[in-house]
Amino acid sequence: MTGDEIVALSKQHTLFEWSAQSNVDPIPVARAKGIYFWTPEGQRFTDFNSQLMCVNIGHGDERVVRAIQDQAATLAYANPFMATEPRALLGQKLAEICPGDIDVFFFTNGGAEANENAIKLARWATGRHKILARYRSYHGGTAGSITLTGDPRRWAAEPGIPGVVHVLDPYHGIERGWDSAAQSLAMLEEVIQLEGPNTIAAFILETVTGTNGVLVPPDGYIQGVRELCTKYGILMICDEVMSGFGRTGEWFAINHWGVVPDILTMAKGLTSAYVQLGALGMRRGLAEMFQDKVFYGGLTYNSHPLACAAALATIQVYEEDGLLAKARALGDVMKQLLADLARRHPSVGEVRSIGLFGIVELIRDAKTRQPMAPFNGSSEEMVALGQFFRREGLYTLVRWNSFYTNPPLCITEEQLREGFAVIDRGLEITDRAVRS
Ligand SMILES: Cc1ncc(COP(=O)(O)O)c(C=O)c1O
Repeated sequence: MTGDEIVALSKQHTLFEWSAQSNVDPIPVARAKGIYFWTPEGQRFTDFNSQLMCVNIGHGDERVVRAIQDQAATLAYANPFMATEPRALLGQKLAEICPGDIDVFFFTNGGAEANENAIKLARWATGRHKILARYRSYHGGTAGSITLTGDPRRWAAEPGIPGVVHVLDPYHGIERGWDSAAQSLAMLEEVIQLEGPNTIAAFILETVTGTNGVLVPPDGYIQGVRELCTKYGILMICDEVMSGFGRTGEWFAINHWGVVPDILTMAKGLTSAYVQLGALGMRRGLAEMFQDKVFYGGLTYNSHPLACAAALATIQVYEEDGLLAKARALGDVMKQLLADLARRHPSVGEVRSIGLFGIVELIRDAKTRQPMAPFNGSSEEMVALGQFFRREGLYTLVRWNSFYTNPPLCITEEQLREGFAVIDRGLEITDRAVRS
């Protein structure tokens, strides 16, 4: 099929997510390899967002493809009451790479289901019902996870599930900037007291917030959250669906702050999205509860052999290719490239990154720091910038007044610099809109 045929037929019979269908203009994708993907007509794109920040090892890695093929030929499916070799080995491997005593896992189809099960678990374990979550967050599209989500994607699903209370983040947007860790923790403790500590089962947070802005927390914040959770008997759930598996230069972002959460959720980079898989990991003490109590959770595709085999092979690629160390080293290069953009382009209001997880926030006024597009909105300039990237074959996520720099971890320094050279030219569009 031609690209146009694929797009037309997809639009005729399938729905695209989070969009009014008349507004979508998808790129037709035929194949992908490494950091690139191609349309059927052969236009090449550099994947500067690892698709949805998930293809961390890069596209088309033959080691993972072979593992999936072998598993499909041997045992494509066994129901979740059975035990299979890939399930056994993946549990063992995750126990090895997860922080602290997180060493028991429940497998799901993706991140949202991992978070759903995490909050159920927290409620059973504590006998409390409230869940604290943050406004600048995304935790998934299912009933519970979209209620946990703080960003505007939640609005259409309200009232959602009962018992979710949102709190503010240390970050308040490009105009107001950041609270210190101490200020933010004091606000959090106040909310805990006002809600009643004995009613709160868990606090769920993205360790480094993803689609709400690559928000790297100020040092001390994550440790402080851990202390508050321990003080009030609240379980700390870290959603590492996006920040896990090397994206920040560590297996999990939480490792940067030396903290062990009670529950850790993951998906995306777990298989680099070659096959869909999510998981929640829990500390041994929490898992013990289910020795004589029923674990009331189930999915037909729980512990799917194909997905578990893909995850095992993917984790081996991270290890064989030293991708965590690479993300740290190239993360340093990216930090400099981002800083360079900020120095030379008046429309760049702030850049943030950790490892190969990066963002550029654009402003149209240096004094007021008015964003280039409003919260939850777009603008002519942001649309033009997105169109420029597309024309130039650079794929990345442009959202509100920001765009992301999250390439696969297998990118070379030269390829990274090439991507930034396109960005550098594109920013001339937004620079022209800046009021001096
Ligand atoms: C931090 C975070 N949590 C949860 C999810 C939901 O994962 P999924 O789309 O696999 O259900 C996402 C997806 O983008 C995410 O970024």
